[in-house]
Amino acid sequence: MGSLTIRKLDEAMKARLRLRAARNGRSVEEEARTILRDAAADAESPPAADPTPTEAPSAAAAAAKPARVLLVIGGGIAAYKSLDLIRRLRERGIAVRCVLTRAGSEFITPLSVGAIAGERPYTDLFNPDHEFDVGHIRLARDTDLVIVAPATADLMAKMANGHADDLATAVLLATDKPILLAPAMNPRMWANKATQRNVTRLQNDGVTLVGPGEGEMAERGERGRGRMAEPLEIAVRVTALLAPQDKPLAGYRMLITSGPTHEPIDPVRYIANRSSGKQGHAIAAAAAAAGAEVTLVSGPVTIPDPNGITVVHVESAREMLAAVEKAMPADIAIFAAAVADWRVARDSEQKIKKQTGAATPELSLTENPDILATISKLPPARRPPLVIGFAAETEHVERHAREKLARKGCDWIVANDVSPATGIMGGDSNTVHLISATGIEHWPPQSKDAVAQMLIEHIARTMLEKMKAKS
Ligand code: C5P
Repeated sequence: MGSLTIRKLDEAMKARLRLRAARNGRSVEEEARTILRDAAADAESPPAADPTPTEAPSAAAAAAKPARVLLVIGGGIAAYKSLDLIRRLRERGIAVRCVLTRAGSEFITPLSVGAIAGERPYTDLFNPDHEFDVGHIRLARDTDLVIVAPATADLMAKMANGHADDLATAVLLATDKPILLAPAMNPRMWANKATQRNVTRLQNDGVTLVGPGEGEMAERGERGRGRMAEPLEIAVRVTALLAPQDKPLAGYRMLITSGPTHEPIDPVRYIANRSSGKQGHAIAAAAAAAGAEVTLVSGPVTIPDPNGITVVHVESAREMLAAVEKAMPADIAIFAAAVADWRVARDSEQKIKKQTGAATPELSLTENPDILATISKLPPARRPPLVIGFAAETEHVERHAREKLARKGCDWIVANDVSPATGIMGGDSNTVHLISATGIEHWPPQSKDAVAQMLIEHIARTMLEKMKAKS
């Protein structure tokens, strides 16, 4: 289908369309597309018995509106990462509209940006088509957040001084929405006093920064601070900025294991343990309530799946490891499952029969893969930035948990005493100790739901501190 040419409509029609678009908070082009889409849908479906007038969008429809961001792509070699950023944002359900600066289009083409964003980028302040369809003021306001990635030294200098001599700077000056900058430049340019002065001024103006990070630069032999933050990190930051305050883990991907594993002996028998999955499932529910995108890998349990969570059901430790690896990457991984340490070396394909006079069968065991240790020891690029293990101990809880922290290579251990007298295994309450490289916290006896809530709050605080330390 050819593109819509609104310019060719008569003046009265254009005026009506403009009015309608303004009332519905859309661009003229979007409004025209909506009218056509609705007309096509009406033609396909039988008329409703009692049509309700739809003058203005309902509150519910407005609430369900996807978040929108305006991405300004500046001119730097890191512009290629912006294509991945668009993808990361869109897979989080965020609509992305792009402005490509003249310098930006020296590095990536409007065609590739448009193909990934699903909408052509805006490039020119004085393009009559663009101005008629949207206009730079609407471009600046019809969004929930403005991102600049890569934010070059020049773009930041212009922003800090209120310049508006091209579309990107005009939009940045006209916007009334939060701005997130992902600076990217040569380390010397970043360290330059002028740049640092501009950064401070922009931060004082309420602009948020993500990165830059340290590392190799595009120029051979150059190293230092100036690398643009990775697209995933920017996407997480965007989701956090868009999220309501009660969703501190919005934008984070969490992977949680829960429940026991069943290790087959034959088709009808298995080795198991007493884990109910209550603690792991409670953590998954609390994480989802805090806005995280959760995948729960659950062994066989009798409790229901928590709502709003992707749940992968597995039986054995090997299946659990495969499901965990498939669910990666994750920002935070919590291994609350009671994974069987051993499995039967060779499980029988047929049910083992009891035979009179025959010797009692002997089970030879072999070690299961250690899921927590496997994920904790992944190379930094693939390892979740926060890995948490559990330690179910029946004696010397603290000492054993510390040893486990070191042996498994995870960041925290949540240790609990599961000796039968405590009733923790299968029960509804828990007493845990949180052990990390910096020390130990003793939490009070409380319900498993309260432990989950406390753990999620602790994680949210830690992620926020990590984020602040990075920027
Ligand atoms: O070694 P141990 O079973 O005491 O360690 C407990 C911790 O290790 C828990 O976080 C548990 O989920 C994890 N684990 C694992 N894979 C195993 C054994 C334990 O992920 N095979």
